[in-house]
Amino acid sequence: LDNGVGRVPPMGWNSWNTFGCNINETLIKQTADALVNNGMRDLGYKYVVVDDCWMDSTRDSAGNLRANPSRFPSGMKALGDYLHARGLLFGIYQAPLDRTCAQYFGSYPGATGSQGHEYQDARTFASWGVDYLKYDWCSPTGTIDDQVRVFALMRDALRASGRPIFYSINSNSIHDKTGPRRNWSDVANMWRTTEDITNAWNTGQTNGYPMGIQNIVDVTVPLARYAAPGGFNDPDMMEVGRGGMNDTEMRSHFALWAIMASPLIAGNDVRSMNAATTTILTNSRLIAINQDTLGLQAGQISFDGTRRVLAKRLANGDVAVALFNQGSATTTISTTAAAIGKSGSAFTLTDAWTGATSSTTGAISASVPAHGTAVFRVSGGGTTEPPPPSTTTLVSASS
Ligand code: DGJ
Repeated sequence: LDNGVGRVPPMGWNSWNTFGCNINETLIKQTADALVNNGMRDLGYKYVVVDDCWMDSTRDSAGNLRANPSRFPSGMKALGDYLHARGLLFGIYQAPLDRTCAQYFGSYPGATGSQGHEYQDARTFASWGVDYLKYDWCSPTGTIDDQVRVFALMRDALRASGRPIFYSINSNSIHDKTGPRRNWSDVANMWRTTEDITNAWNTGQTNGYPMGIQNIVDVTVPLARYAAPGGFNDPDMMEVGRGGMNDTEMRSHFALWAIMASPLIAGNDVRSMNAATTTILTNSRLIAINQDTLGLQAGQISFDGTRRVLAKRLANGDVAVALFNQGSATTTISTTAAAIGKSGSAFTLTDAWTGATSSTTGAISASVPAHGTAVFRVSGGGTTEPPPPSTTTLVSASS
């Protein structure tokens, strides 16, 4: 979407994965302070996104949205001011129908959606200083055409508000997730690729609730060609630091989100992170790969059902390569500089985890533990045409 924002994947934090409906302004402010104090803001984690359950069950007499007065007694404009004063950006949640997901699923009765109030709500968001809208389809019925209509309506409403607002959409349970995908890049800055993520490695399904990390990767890798500056695939907020997986799996999760040009939206409680979580979320080499200005999602170079090789062309001519072991035993994964789009015979490999460098004439190989991912930045030599491997097309798009 050409709206001046989202030229690289967004980074930040979202309340849903850890707190669900249990949110209030104290939590959001404490989270903002933590992002500043632990260095995450300065690494790029700027969007603080208040997910479902912030709103009152009724609009005011003029039909304006308002915050739940006991959860957000200072109001949303004050919260936006708090975030902006700390160099952060303000994200908020809404839904295109008459109610939000939480109301559909009974956890927050009365949450009012934007249906019929799109332009008014966009103006309200702009007046509160909102920088990011997550717009979440929740009805169990409807079609893709219904979704295109309402998602495009809010796109136009946001544009008319005059404030550049990053626009994230979620087609949720009514979608084309099992068949050919619609390319949503004309509508939004990012679009969810699966049902909700959970803090598990593998839930054994590619289209259902909930989705494990590897399942989401299986679905999102083939969508590489839809990602570009202004619009990215969204495999959901991260589960790093939320338990349910070992450190190797947590590292893989982050590395794969980074190389897939996915949003790096933390979903853990950043007020209390252990050292392993901090090390993962603050890996500046992986963040640089994710935030590269070419805005490409890694293309698949090879996959034998266990060993998956992904490569992402970078703006300075380097190529990032991930060697991902989906199997349950340590294995050696190999590729070559030529296979990932480099020409020449002298390259430097920088290990994204350790920073260690090594030289190669072309072979790229690592012993990778079960569910692990080795990542190297490959520099030197030239780049081959046609670039880049991320144009890999494994599914067709519907219009
Ligand atoms: C469904 C979305 O997929 C979640 O990320 C979250 O926003 C909930 N809705 C909120 O109800």
